[in-house]
Amino acid sequence: MWRATRKKFPPGPTEVLKRWSFGPFNNNPLEYFTGIAREYGDIAGLRILNFKTIFINHPDLIEEVLVMNARKYTKGRVLRANRHVFGEGLLTSEGDFWLRQRRLSQPAFHRARIASYAATMVEYAQRMLDGWRSGEKRDVHREMLRLTLQIVGKTLFDADVERDAQGVGKSLELLLEIGANFRRTIFVPHWLPTPANLQVKREVAQIEKIIYRIIHERRASGRDAGDLLSMLLAAQDEDGSRMTDKQLRDETITLFLAGHETTASTLSWTWWLLAQNPIAEAKLHAELDVVLGDRAPTIDDLPKLVYAGHVITESLRLYPAAWGLARLAVEDHEIAGYPVTKGMGITMAQWVVHRDPRWYDAPTEFRPERWENDLLKRLPRFAYFPFGGGPRQCVGNTFALMEATLILATIARKFRLRLVADHPVVPLASITLRPRHGVRVKLEAREEKEAVSSPNGRQAAVAD
Ligand code: HEM
Repeated sequence: MWRATRKKFPPGPTEVLKRWSFGPFNNNPLEYFTGIAREYGDIAGLRILNFKTIFINHPDLIEEVLVMNARKYTKGRVLRANRHVFGEGLLTSEGDFWLRQRRLSQPAFHRARIASYAATMVEYAQRMLDGWRSGEKRDVHREMLRLTLQIVGKTLFDADVERDAQGVGKSLELLLEIGANFRRTIFVPHWLPTPANLQVKREVAQIEKIIYRIIHERRASGRDAGDLLSMLLAAQDEDGSRMTDKQLRDETITLFLAGHETTASTLSWTWWLLAQNPIAEAKLHAELDVVLGDRAPTIDDLPKLVYAGHVITESLRLYPAAWGLARLAVEDHEIAGYPVTKGMGITMAQWVVHRDPRWYDAPTEFRPERWENDLLKRLPRFAYFPFGGGPRQCVGNTFALMEATLILATIARKFRLRLVADHPVVPLASITLRPRHGVRVKLEAREEKEAVSSPNGRQAAVAD
C-alpha cells in the first residue's frame, strides 16, 4: 500500500517534481524530509494513495504559501483530523470564525499585557527550584512540562493547575503521542472505536473535566481577572450572544496544548544542548552573573540577557518545537510554475530549512553566537521560522520567548544540569518535536562548580 513510485508528478516542464510515497514518513519524518530535500531540492511532489502533497524547501516558496497566498490554503490534514480534540480553537478554526477569535484573543498576548506575566513565570520557576536539591537526578523534560503548564494556566486562565498539572500533562502528552501517528490520524476516522481512538476519548474527557471546572468557577464568580478567559467570557457577537462553554473549551484546550508543550520542549532541548556545550554554558553563566548577580530575573533584565536570548534562538533553530507545517489548497493555482489543484497538500519543514547549509555555517552545530550582528536580518525571512508566519503565525511567540528566556535565566543562575550517562535523548517528531524518553539530568548547584570535563571539551555525563 505504501509502495514508493517514482513517476513524474505532475506532468511539468522539468523532472523536478516526482511522485513519491509517504511510506517511511511515519517512522522518521525528520530523516525522510531531509532526504527528500537532498534528493529533489526546493520542491518535490509526494503522494499517499490519492492524496498529493508538495514539499517545499526554499524560504521564498514558504513565504509565498504562508504570507502572499495565505488565503489559498487551510490548515493541513493532521490538524484538521485532530479537530475532535481542538474543536474550533484558534489553531484549527478557519475563515471568519478564526479571524474573530484571533482578534478577541490577541490583546491577551500584546507586549504590554504579557509583561505582567513575567513575574508569574519567574515565581513558578523559583517555586519549582525550591524542590530541587543538588546531586538529585531528574527528568528535566517532565519538570519543564509541569512548569509551563502551570504558567499557562495561571497567566491565561488565572487558574492554579498545581493539583491538576500531572493529570492534564499526562493526558496532553498521550494525545500528542497518539497524534504522532500521522497515517492513523489521517486515515482512521476518529469515531471508529479503535483502542487508540478510545484512549483519545478518555484523555479528552479527563482534560475537559478540568477545563469546564475552570470555566464554571469563573462564570459563577463573575470576576474579571483581566486575563484571557475574562476577555473570552466578556466577548459578545453583534447580536449580543456570547461564547458557549463548548467554544470556551475549544480555545482553552488549544492554548493549554499549544502553549505549554512547545515551550517545555524548547527548554528541554536547550538544557540538553547546553550540557554538551560547556563553552556556551559558561558564557551564559557569565552573563547571568553580571546582569543578575544574586537576584532572580525580571522583565527589565530581558534586553540585557542577550546571550540567553541567542541560546533560545539557536535551540529553536536546531530543535524547532514546531518541526513542520502543512496546508491544504482551497483553490487551483501555481507554486514555482507547478500546478497546485484544490485539495492538494503543501508541506514545509523548519527542521530541514533551519539546517540548510545555504543559510547557516556548520548548520548542525550549536552556536548561539551566530545570532550576533543581526544574522536574522541578513537571512531570507523564512530561513528561520520557528513560529510560522503570515496571518496564522503563532499568537504566543512573544509570550514563549519571554517565558523560555526567564525560565532559562532563573534556573541557570542556580543550577547546572549534567546529562546522566546512557540515557538516550532522541527526538520524536510528533505534532511537536520532543525528546522521546525525556532528558535525564543530574542537578548541580552552581556554587559547587566546576564540573568534570572530558578531554574533547564536552561535558562528561554522570553515571546513572
Ligand atoms: C517555543 C514555543 C512555541 C512554538 C515553537 C510555537 C510554534 C507555533 C507555530 C509554528 C504556529 C503556526 C502553526 C501553523 O501555521 O500551522 C503556532 C500557532 C499557534 N500557537 Fe504557538 N508556538 C509556541 C508557543 C506558544 C504559546 C506559549 C502559545 C500560547 C500561550 C501558543 C499558541 C498558539 C496558537 C493559539 C496558535 C494558532 C494561531 C492561529 O492560527 O491564529 N504558542 N505556534
